[in-house]
Amino acid sequence: GVTELSSYTLEQVAQHNTRKDCWMVLFGKVYNVTDYLPFHPGGKGELMRGAGKDGTKLFLEYHSWVNPELMLDKCLVGFLR
Ligand code: HEM
Repeated sequence: GVTELSSYTLEQVAQHNTRKDCWMVLFGKVYNVTDYLPFHPGGKGELMRGAGKDGTKLFLEYHSWVNPELMLDKCLVGFLR
């Protein structure tokens, strides 16, 4: 359940910045997007620009109409501290 989720600093998120271990902050939530990478319609390279970072600004620049909370529900690992 949601009560089991931890919170992470940006420094902790930054440890996960590779294609095999890719985390991203979006709207204050921390996602492990590793499994989503191959499915990103914009390609892996574009998504990796936000790897290990807060990708919210980039995300909004490219597709403010996309709902990441629904899409990445199963990828949620916690919250930004
Ligand atoms: C396209 C999801 C992160 C750049 C898309 C589309 C979705 C999506 C659903 C298709 C949108 C449509 O056709 O209406 C996501 C999710 C992300 C993410 C869930 C986070 C995990 C990013 C980031 C960038 C980016 C960080 C840029 C640095 C793009 C681009 C396209 C795209 C350029 C357009 C591809 C095209 O139509 O040729 N993304 N995205 N995305 N995304 Fe993302």
